[in-house]
Amino acid sequence: MSETTTDERSARPGEPGRALLQMQNVTLRFGGVVALNDVSFEIRQGEILGLIGPNGAGKTTCFNALTGVYQPTEGQVVFDGTPLGRRKRFQINRLGIARTFQNIRLFQNMTARENVLVGADSHHRAGVVQSLFRLPRHRRETREGNALADELLELMDLGHRADDLARNLSYGEQRRLEIARALATKPKLLCLDEPAAGFNPVEKQRLMDLIRRVRDLGNTVLLIEHDMKLVMGVTDRIVVLEFGKKIAEGLPAEIRDNPAVIAAYLGVDDASEEEL
Ligand SMILES: Nc1ncnc2c1ncn2[C@@H]1O[C@H](COP(=O)(O)OP(=O)(O)O)[C@@H](O)[C@H]1O
Ligand SMILES: [Mg+2]
Repeated sequence: MSETTTDERSARPGEPGRALLQMQNVTLRFGGVVALNDVSFEIRQGEILGLIGPNGAGKTTCFNALTGVYQPTEGQVVFDGTPLGRRKRFQINRLGIARTFQNIRLFQNMTARENVLVGADSHHRAGVVQSLFRLPRHRRETREGNALADELLELMDLGHRADDLARNLSYGEQRRLEIARALATKPKLLCLDEPAAGFNPVEKQRLMDLIRRVRDLGNTVLLIEHDMKLVMGVTDRIVVLEFGKKIAEGLPAEIRDNPAVIAAYLGVDDASEEEL
């Protein structure tokens, strides 16, 4: 039921439902540890794909494999028709994959708006010479960058914090700012690794609502989370990992009732509290 047909796969670029990213039989070993074992799935244009699984299941490794932090030992990742091969992180980012980190990485002494502008800047075309002499293209890009930054801050409910230094933002606000910054690169795929880690239940739900808002604007999102209940309400489809293997894939309702998934999660119900 959750399988795509060949027709869907060959749909035209930009069309909802076509495969934007494909993990193809990816195995990733660290010495003797098999962190990913022959994992295949796809992320479709315009969806929120949830990647879930107990701690140590291989979620972050998956994330690292598709953002260029690690190269698969076997198999490959194909993004927007291009095999990622041995591309470096910044090259993959240029192709249109943006990510946030499990640990916050903001410029603490810059304002919220400036932090978002850093994201937008990395994709500006005006070169150093243009910037230095404030030539028209640079001026236009600065104006556009400011407008985009303010829009993204609004989207993440941070409009009122635009001029505040990142270090004065609450933990939750900093997390949301990271997402705004990632969106400033206008990515084709936004990857979020446990964006709600350390949040209380109310904040978590609020963040899920914001992520859905991001998707509703036409973005494609990979959402990694180990709290299964949390992703149920926000994701379009879910892939479940356990011990580096994909054990299930399907619609949220199918995953919730899947015996293998229930077994994987038995006894780790409190996983979401473990990392606090
Ligand atoms: N750089 C690394 N070196 C060695 N082992 C690693 C490394 N990164 C992850 N692992 C191992 O791979 C497995 C999957 O880890 P990870 O992807 O972080 O899981 P998750 O994000 O689902 O909690 C774990 O057994 C972990 O210890
Ligand atoms: Mg992880």
